[in-house]
Amino acid sequence: MRNRDLAVHNYKRFCALDGSDYIASEFALETILKIIKKFNVNTILELGLGIGSISDTVLKYSKKDNKKISYVGTEKNEFCLNALKKNIIDYDDIELYAELNQIKNNKFDLIIIDGYDDTLIEIVAFCKKNTIIFIEGDRKGQTETVREIFPKSKYVNVISLNKNKPYVHGYSPTSHYVGGGQLIFTKPTFKMNIFWFLQKSITYVKNKIRIFKSA
Ligand SMILES: C[S@@+](CC[C@H](N)C(=O)[O-])C[C@H]1O[C@@H](n2cnc3c(N)ncnc32)[C@H](O)[C@@H]1O
Repeated sequence: MRNRDLAVHNYKRFCALDGSDYIASEFALETILKIIKKFNVNTILELGLGIGSISDTVLKYSKKDNKKISYVGTEKNEFCLNALKKNIIDYDDIELYAELNQIKNNKFDLIIIDGYDDTLIEIVAFCKKNTIIFIEGDRKGQTETVREIFPKSKYVNVISLNKNKPYVHGYSPTSHYVGGGQLIFTKPTFKMNIFWFLQKSITYVKNKIRIFKSA
């Protein structure tokens, strides 16, 4: 199965589960898998695991491609904690904490932030030299905070050309586009700079298409 198909398939699976109103978009799942593959990500921290759509997708990818990924996440909501046990096929492979400050001496290649409502300054302690940060959706405040924490970072708003799928929670046929995220390279390598530039160009073109199609 291709990574894109895995993202689409697992997104659809999670859309049918309780609590699916707050899950990451299909595009976010696809983007995260792309980043993991491109930059050989082995260690991931997710702030706010929710009902597990991202973590389950990544663990399935890790199994499919026989790639070892250590997945650490935080979650403190009772409903989500129960849902995670049911929804994540390889639940035992997740190192789960209620709070960020309970994680000791660990640094990550990729940090995923999706709906986390605490201060972000603490994430510095969990970053390696070239850590990548992905913020799901259009969270301008959090994006600005992370960019201030890492003044040498490179940032791109990645966007999709997807429309709402009929199987999403509370589906209504709308004309606007859904799915995006904020990709931040805290201290980009040469390869990251190239990728960043390419993504900037793709976003530029997609924005033009969005405007053209909405006119
Ligand atoms: C939008 S949901 C995440 C959805 C998840 N990515 C998914 O696709 O299933 C955000 C989650 O972050 C959790 N959260 C928010 N602030 C948190 C904090 N300070 N510590 C731990 N978990 C937190 C919430 O309980 C919620 O479940």
